[in-house]
Amino acid sequence: IRIGVIFGGRSVEHEISVISAQQAISAFDKNSYDITPIYITKTGKWYTGDALLNVDNYKNTDSLLAQCTEIYISPTFGDFTINAVQSSIWKSKEIAKIDIAFPIIHGTNCEDGSLQGLLELKGIPYVGCDVLSSAVGMDKIMMKMVLKESGLPVVDYTWFTDRSWHMDKQAIIEKINKIGFPVIVKPSNLGSSVGVSKAADEAQLIEAVELAGRFSSRILVERMVVDLKEINCSVLGDVANQNASVCEEPLGAGDILSYKDKYITKGSSSKGMTSTKRQIPANIPKEQAMLIQDLAKETFRTLSCSGVSRIDFLVDKKDNKVYVNEINTIPGSLSFYLWEATDKNFGQLLKTLIDVALK
Ligand code: DAL
Ligand code: MG
Repeated sequence: IRIGVIFGGRSVEHEISVISAQQAISAFDKNSYDITPIYITKTGKWYTGDALLNVDNYKNTDSLLAQCTEIYISPTFGDFTINAVQSSIWKSKEIAKIDIAFPIIHGTNCEDGSLQGLLELKGIPYVGCDVLSSAVGMDKIMMKMVLKESGLPVVDYTWFTDRSWHMDKQAIIEKINKIGFPVIVKPSNLGSSVGVSKAADEAQLIEAVELAGRFSSRILVERMVVDLKEINCSVLGDVANQNASVCEEPLGAGDILSYKDKYITKGSSSKGMTSTKRQIPANIPKEQAMLIQDLAKETFRTLSCSGVSRIDFLVDKKDNKVYVNEINTIPGSLSFYLWEATDKNFGQLLKTLIDVALK
């Protein structure tokens, strides 16, 4: 099977995607799969070439791209040809053919249904969530509304637009006062904790909203669970059948795992998600782990997901209540480390993902 692994992207999570994709590319069973790397630059150009297979080459993008070929995927249904862009006119030369696209790409323009929509338009089969589940899963506000409506436990929240904030700050602050400080302020549509901060009072709230507003015009404010444990669980399958992985407890430095904690820990970013300290399986009672696994599968079904997702939970240490915090429909490193601790190595995880997509 010929697979086009799509990674990089016009997203703040570009670098993480490069790492996730490189990890996956090395784990594919090369006897069954023929891999074409498809790299989307930060400005949105598409390239292929063997130089993309060495993670060290990404230190110098100009020299990396000089060794690659700029491409587009031709929109011919049933025959997905990767063509070289040779000039400003679409004069093309065939480079490779693929049977299925495998997006291993995080964040805005990538994990939010945009790329999935492009693949749908071109009639290219692809691994993972479709347009709807990707879009709802990426948007923290939409996701919370859907999960809350379905009876899944989410922490109290409110949301507003940047515009309404500037028009009537006071009315919004009153609503937030009802939720009660401290709160967490998040842009609606970014991953990896970018633009997220906490606010203990009104002054900090104003700062936090200004920061979040730089990343998104829609802002989510949630009650902050002060004494919390973060527990994550991965789900694999489709709407009809799902399996949940063992749970993990990511061990961060502060009370919000920052972008830095998650990916840039101690000088080494090359290990990406795997360099985050984590406890696998999480040190929680068996019943709670089972509850989290059930909630994870229900979240996956409710959002109509496919492929592999990671659902992140908060456990309030005060009363042991469990809340769904967010979903990553293309999780960092595809959560392979959770499946390794459950029942599959990375190669088997990738095979399952392709089987589900081609079913
Ligand atoms: N959005 C990143 C990659 C994650 O949380 O897995
Ligand atoms: Mg995330």
